[in-house]
Amino acid sequence: MNIKIRKFKDSDILGVVSLIKETFYKYNKKEATKTGIKNYLTYYSINKDNLEKVKISFLKTPIFFVALDNKKIVGMIRGTKSYMVNLFVNGNYHNQGIGRELVNKFENEAKKQVSSEIKIRASLFAVPFYQKIGYKKTTGIKNYKGIKVYPMKKLIF
Ligand SMILES: CC(C)(COP(=O)(O)OP(=O)(O)OC[C@H]1O[C@@H](n2cnc3c(N)ncnc32)[C@H](O)[C@@H]1OP(=O)(O)O)[C@@H](O)C(=O)NCCC(=O)NCCS
Repeated sequence: MNIKIRKFKDSDILGVVSLIKETFYKYNKKEATKTGIKNYLTYYSINKDNLEKVKISFLKTPIFFVALDNKKIVGMIRGTKSYMVNLFVNGNYHNQGIGRELVNKFENEAKKQVSSEIKIRASLFAVPFYQKIGYKKTTGIKNYKGIKVYPMKKLIF
């Protein structure tokens, strides 16, 4: 399979939002309360006004990459130089190294922007993945907006 990773463009918005919603619902809903799920999915509602709001929130995360299989968006990662906020890979593409490659790109960009540490609020599902690529838990499980997360971090030099 020929997966290409490149920087996010505005025209990716629909593909990205669909990927977030579908992947969250499939893999992360067990980790959230009903209200947590509802609020998360509502935040990414696909209607014109809401997509404008989402676009504005994306501007707060200057590091943003997408993974494409031909023209289909199958992965994404975004965040600031010290905080990663979203990493999602379409379930049909799991365990093919796309998640690791997206994190590599993210870390390299963070290093360029002179960061020495990356923090995340890891989904419970993704904890073994993050541990494999060098992230360590910093506390126990926390509740973030009705979703269980493990705060983790990695030093990058
Ligand atoms: C977590 C996620 C991004 C991983 O993406 P991926 O492309 O499948 O990961 P990779 O193929 O790059 O995996 C890298 C390594 O981690 C391992 N790994 C990946 N997911 C794993 C899991 N859930 N449990 C245990 N190991 C896992 C892989 O086997 C691989 O190990 P290897 O190097 O020994 O072969 C993906 O499962 C996902 O989108 N999950 C749902 C959304 C989510 O929870 N996102 C995180 C939000 S904080």
